[in-house]
Amino acid sequence: MSAFESKPIETVRDYWDARPCNLRHSTKEIGSRVYFDEVEARKYRVEPHIPSFADFNSWKGKRVLELGCGLGTDTINFARAGAHVTAVDLSMKSLELARKRAEVMGVADRITFYNANGENLSSIVPVEPYDLVYSFGVVHHTPHPDRAIAELRKYVKPGGTMKIMVYYRYSWKVLWILLTYGKGKFWKLADLVATHSEAQTGCPITYIYDCKEGQQLLENSGLRVTQTEVDHIFSYRIPDYVEYRYVREWYFRWMPNSLFRFLERKFGWHLLLTAEASK
Ligand SMILES: C[S@@+](CC[C@H](N)C(=O)[O-])C[C@H]1O[C@@H](n2cnc3c(N)ncnc32)[C@H](O)[C@@H]1O
Repeated sequence: MSAFESKPIETVRDYWDARPCNLRHSTKEIGSRVYFDEVEARKYRVEPHIPSFADFNSWKGKRVLELGCGLGTDTINFARAGAHVTAVDLSMKSLELARKRAEVMGVADRITFYNANGENLSSIVPVEPYDLVYSFGVVHHTPHPDRAIAELRKYVKPGGTMKIMVYYRYSWKVLWILLTYGKGKFWKLADLVATHSEAQTGCPITYIYDCKEGQQLLENSGLRVTQTEVDHIFSYRIPDYVEYRYVREWYFRWMPNSLFRFLERKFGWHLLLTAEASK
């Protein structure tokens, strides 16, 4: 049994309430239009694989359920593309901002928000058929990811799709955390990764998966995995990045882009899984 399993969900909620994900992606007034525009620009600049993974335009007129919407960057883009979205988060602070964002961007009529724990989703969010169930960077932060996936599965309509991103074990980021903060103490890997996986240190729970484990997570709930990809190496110098400058580390700067992309697809931090429910 992993030590993460016994952590109370409140510690997870308190962590994300203290600093919602991507809160500091802009220095503009929090809640303003320019603030949200800058949050989105920075997020998709640093994680440019998200729009193609989410494939926003494919869900026009369709029903999308998102678990762990955070500040709602992807949520808004599903809604802008014409989807009818149900967005859920454990963190009330994150939800407040996501709600505000939906109003500011004029898509509030297309999004229903819920404050809920994904592990008990069906006790709060009515179980209805969705075309897409989407969760980016979320289930690896909950004590029982398998329970969250089993709950999410209830919402995928026959022939529907689930897309999730979980962190990848054999990644540059895990190696970097191990060498930078752990001085190579691989036996402390689980704690090291959790502590340093996010912008704000001290994340209580961060599971990591290899491809097989990620696929198993979805297949155990009866879904068929149709695509497994690895992507995303954060290549910027952190002291510059926190000052909103984008300067690559010297060892990435000299690399041809084709080599960098090759490395991202082999050793990226994001394991991107797409699965389908049988018809
Ligand atoms: C890393 S952030 C990702 C936010 C968003 N998906 C994005 O990509 O910007 C993780 C989010 O998952 C939420 N979360 C973590 N565990 C959860 C759970 N059990 N149920 C619902 N939301 C959860 C957190 O509150 C947080 O907003």
